[in-house]
Amino acid sequence: MFIRRLTTRAFRNLAAATVEFHPSVNVILGANAQGKTSLAEAVYLLAALRSFRTSQLRELIRHGEAIAGVSAEADDGGVIQNFAVELERGPSVTRICRYQGHETPPARYAGKLRAVAFHPGDLGLVAGLPEARRRFLDRLIFSVSPAYLAEYQAFQHSLRQRNSFLRQGAPDMELLDVYDEQFVRLGAVVMERREKMIAELNEAVDRHYASVAGDGEKPGVRYEPGVSSGLAREGSAADWLRAALERGRPRDLERGFTGDGPHCDDLDLQLDQKPLRKFGSQGQRRTAVVALKVSELEIIARSPGPRPLLLLDDVASELDLRRNRALFEALSVHPAQVFLTTTELSHLPLGPATEFREFAMEQGAITQARDRRGTESP
Ligand SMILES: Nc1ncnc2c1ncn2[C@@H]1O[C@H](COP(=O)(O)OP(=O)(O)O)[C@@H](O)[C@H]1O
Ligand SMILES: [Mg+2]
Repeated sequence: MFIRRLTTRAFRNLAAATVEFHPSVNVILGANAQGKTSLAEAVYLLAALRSFRTSQLRELIRHGEAIAGVSAEADDGGVIQNFAVELERGPSVTRICRYQGHETPPARYAGKLRAVAFHPGDLGLVAGLPEARRRFLDRLIFSVSPAYLAEYQAFQHSLRQRNSFLRQGAPDMELLDVYDEQFVRLGAVVMERREKMIAELNEAVDRHYASVAGDGEKPGVRYEPGVSSGLAREGSAADWLRAALERGRPRDLERGFTGDGPHCDDLDLQLDQKPLRKFGSQGQRRTAVVALKVSELEIIARSPGPRPLLLLDDVASELDLRRNRALFEALSVHPAQVFLTTTELSHLPLGPATEFREFAMEQGAITQARDRRGTESP
């Protein structure tokens, strides 16, 4: 699947225009603050219904405008597919999705176009907050198994319910038993999904880390379940979670929130069995993120569904030549349509045989588009 043409309207600083993309590699070139990331973001919005750089959709609507829109014509093996997303300003932003011209609920729209984005903010993933790693993991699971969205939301709902129940003075213990059992059932589903995905990631990262790092240190991706106080796991995730809730109940009642469960999970990236978060050098952490992102693309690409688009926003300038080459090499295995933004063409290690379309971006407008070959000499 690739995007043939994309139209934006009142999207950040982008001039209303239609862009004809190359089926394979697209390079968006320009100085800072011209709108390169915005164009990549518009592509990503169509697939993911969100941005890769902000959780605030209102930021995407041009200042002073009420409605922003992005639409595209995609080609799926010769079959034309039409996608459109509109964002309307209000107390909260309303998203309207259209597939083949028909308004489609986001849950049904999701998955018809898929994209993986890699941007400089991702480079902090290893050492940043657990929440960002849980989000990375959950989004990957959604992309591969759309049914997970409803499961995840059901768990979140039961967490909120239990927490507000804990905060009531002297809650009914029998009713708390009922909430606990629901929390255990829904929480175990989330834990099992994550456990399974982490095993897949571990296997993929193991293969990709060495090619990026160029040495023999052994990486690992480990699941750190949010079951505190060192309670040993026996039996199923549900049994374990049930035991943790039982043991933690007095503490939870005192604090007014649930201290054990998937909402406290983490994903631990290791090198030679030591957490990179604590002991890794900046270079090792970056290598691990590159390996994670390549693994993400690989896992999504091999799952059923349309072939994901790949967006690399200004990543090349953040990485050294070796990591860049390894990244581009690993990615070139997947025949995805690629969108690259950069301030300097020379940052991109595109081999001499690589055909790409170069777009010059100036003040929100594309001033030139031309087809070229290679940024690196042989
Ligand atoms: N909602 C918006 N309305 C109008 N302009 C915006 C909006 N959001 C961002 N901008 C402006 O768009 C410009 C382009 O931003 P960006 O796409 O991040 O540029 P680049 O990636 O080329 O550095 C910036 O000058 C920014 O201030
Ligand atoms: Mg940018």
